[in-house]
Amino acid sequence: MVILGIESTCDETAAALVEDGRLLKSNVISTSVKEQALYGGVVPEIASRRHCEYISATVDKALADAGYTIDQVDAVAVTFAPGLIGAVLVGVNFAKGLAYSAGKPLVPVHHLRGHIAALYLTHPELKPPFLCLVASGGHSHIVQVEDYTQFHVLGRTVDDAAGEAFDKVARTLGLPYPGGPSIAAAAKTGDPHAYRLPVPHVEGKYNVSFSGLKTAVLNEVNQARMKGLEINVPDLAASFQERIDGILAEKLLLAAADTGAQQVCLAGGVAANGRLRQLVNDGAQKLGAQVFLPQLKFCGDNGAMIASQGYYEYIAGHTAGLDLNGLPTLPIDSPYFFEKK
Ligand code: KG4
Ligand code: ZN
Repeated sequence: MVILGIESTCDETAAALVEDGRLLKSNVISTSVKEQALYGGVVPEIASRRHCEYISATVDKALADAGYTIDQVDAVAVTFAPGLIGAVLVGVNFAKGLAYSAGKPLVPVHHLRGHIAALYLTHPELKPPFLCLVASGGHSHIVQVEDYTQFHVLGRTVDDAAGEAFDKVARTLGLPYPGGPSIAAAAKTGDPHAYRLPVPHVEGKYNVSFSGLKTAVLNEVNQARMKGLEINVPDLAASFQERIDGILAEKLLLAAADTGAQQVCLAGGVAANGRLRQLVNDGAQKLGAQVFLPQLKFCGDNGAMIASQGYYEYIAGHTAGLDLNGLPTLPIDSPYFFEKK
């Protein structure tokens, strides 16, 4: 079964064809990230406009690269939540029109479920149950993936998402958007123990909090400025990365130990972070759990992850009608409320 996946929740307009949830046939990403970088972050209005301009050609190319016509596709899957609503609606409406005109089922996909499905594209042998840290620009969740369409959230951020913290700290340090890759690059030549940054206290055993950490970096920069001192950007970037990755890995591994997870995974844009991958890898091995990490090309937003999860939603009967709407927020574990068609 071949699914066309469409993604447009942030600044990537993406489409891909995937067979049976695992086999990649094409993967096309058009992005407005360079334009967004001029503003230091995603401007929702610009994202929506670029999605409108890019989406038709992006989907056409995904079909052409795979050597498929829309008639040969089994279903059209689209991210309908959560995300920047103007951006989400472009993908949802395009997918609705396409599914209707081609007479194909329409499959709504939750963005974070999609990020998790990126693991199936990288590791054909991986099957639920597994424990996964999903860390992106908008979310940081520790999730028990009980089955392909069944999720249980153990912990989450109580304020900023991990990616958001990377982006904001990068901005404070004068590094370009997106912040994650900029901080990782700057940190390469820095000393991770040069600056002492706090470990935030947070209610809830598996919850995380990054707002205090972000403020601590801001305070270092402001204090240095007031004293007329230079900030060592690589050192502060490395110290921040070490702290945030340490917190994320520690919480994930604590949850893994407590639940006796045999398989531990990372997903989402922040899963591309080399130091985080290393910490999780080392820690999980000590626990005797297997580690699964997504290929770097599947960490950020893409259509393949939506096509992959779309397959599992489709075979679970989760299709929608033309009344499908986009949603800016929706918990990953909320039951799908669509009529079975
Ligand atoms: O999943 P994603 O592509 O989009 C959302 O769903 O938000 O995640 C984007 C986030 C951004 O905040 C970006 O700075 C972060 O992922 N990111 C990274 C790295 N690459 C991207 N964070 C840390 N290290 C990286 N190498
Ligand atoms: Zn994402």
